[in-house]
Amino acid sequence: MTTVLITGITGQDGSYLADFLLDKGYDVHGMVRRSSTETFLRIEHIRDRITIHQADLLDQLSLINLIEKVQPDEIYNLAAMSFVPTSWVQPVLTAEFTAVGVTKMLEAIRLVNKKIKFYQASSSEMFGKVQEVPQRETTPFYPRSPYGVAKVYGHFITVNYRESYDIFACSGILFNHESPRRGKEFVTRKITDAVARIKCGLQDKLYLGNLDAKRDWGYAGDYVKAMWMMLQQEKSEDYVIATGETHSVREFCEKAFSHAGLEWQDYVGLDPRLVRPAEVDLLIGDPTKAHNRLGWHPEHTFGELVDMMVDEDLNRYRQ
Ligand code: NAP
Ligand code: GDD
Repeated sequence: MTTVLITGITGQDGSYLADFLLDKGYDVHGMVRRSSTETFLRIEHIRDRITIHQADLLDQLSLINLIEKVQPDEIYNLAAMSFVPTSWVQPVLTAEFTAVGVTKMLEAIRLVNKKIKFYQASSSEMFGKVQEVPQRETTPFYPRSPYGVAKVYGHFITVNYRESYDIFACSGILFNHESPRRGKEFVTRKITDAVARIKCGLQDKLYLGNLDAKRDWGYAGDYVKAMWMMLQQEKSEDYVIATGETHSVREFCEKAFSHAGLEWQDYVGLDPRLVRPAEVDLLIGDPTKAHNRLGWHPEHTFGELVDMMVDEDLNRYRQ
């Protein structure tokens, strides 16, 4: 049985990856940071099939001890401060979790067992002010937020440990991926949750920032499969994972409201406080390498994703 350690297992991607690897017959271990209240909502349904351990990306010794205890074959490093606006408010903490935390994981692997395969959750936010359209593995990075800058560090330290110590380390450059398990502060879930609340008479208005921003949005369940595929290759490499389509926040609103039989202009207002100090205007990925080398393709369209998210939020409020 293959043993896996997932950091960030309580998050959106961690929970889908745990589902996916349990189905593959893995022995799944998850790392969580200590909290006074449990944050296990997304993994409640598999709680008795996985093993949870406390450790923290900020604490080097806790990571070394954890890896010695679990003896994993694969590690997926998904834990991070992942919300872009917070990275302007807490830039130092973001760097400590999202950037230096990756070095701490890699150092723990180097010290305990260099044969462990490592996946780093890199991000299309690294492309920022895009230098090429569409963005691919070779497109230069130009991050536009402290989060993006931290992810560039995490990306290159992963490449560096692969090249310096011959560790099987892959960096997945994933474009935005969403689901009914997405945190409610991210724009897609903020919209679908509001659509459901408005439809059920619990809310009147939805305030958003920049409606013109464009993102390449996919379904998180499809993207965790790509993470696993990267670690099953002969050679460790980096891959862009994206749909190859882009849509604006405005289009997402139109589609989500209309799926519930509502006209988005009747409910959406603008709040300039939600506009970011520096914006990433356009993201669109070129997943050709992942198609050709991994055989990976997204299995859900943009329309299916929006409908799925609205339907799940509507069901929740109706219940
Ligand atoms: P998420 O839902 O915000 O989950 C983040 C996870 O990290 C949570 O489990 C959180 O634990 C954990 N965490 C944060 N700080 C930690 C610390 N100091 N020690 C231990 N655990 C810590 O994020 P996601 O959407 O699943 O994304 C997963 C990863 O992929 C992140 O690294 C993100 O930056 C990256 N990424 C995401 C996307 C996307 O579109 N979703 C795209 C590209 C890259 P708590 O439950 O305790 O908060
Ligand atoms: N969150 C939020 N809230 N975003 C808004 C709002 C709002 O009210 N109004 C407009 N937006 C715009 C943002 O300005 C941004 O251009 C876009 O919607 C998407 O914002 P988010 O959903 O917060 O995601 P993100 O693109 O900043 O970051 C996500 O994707 C990255 C990959 O590109 C996160 O998951 C990151 O962790 C991930 O790395």
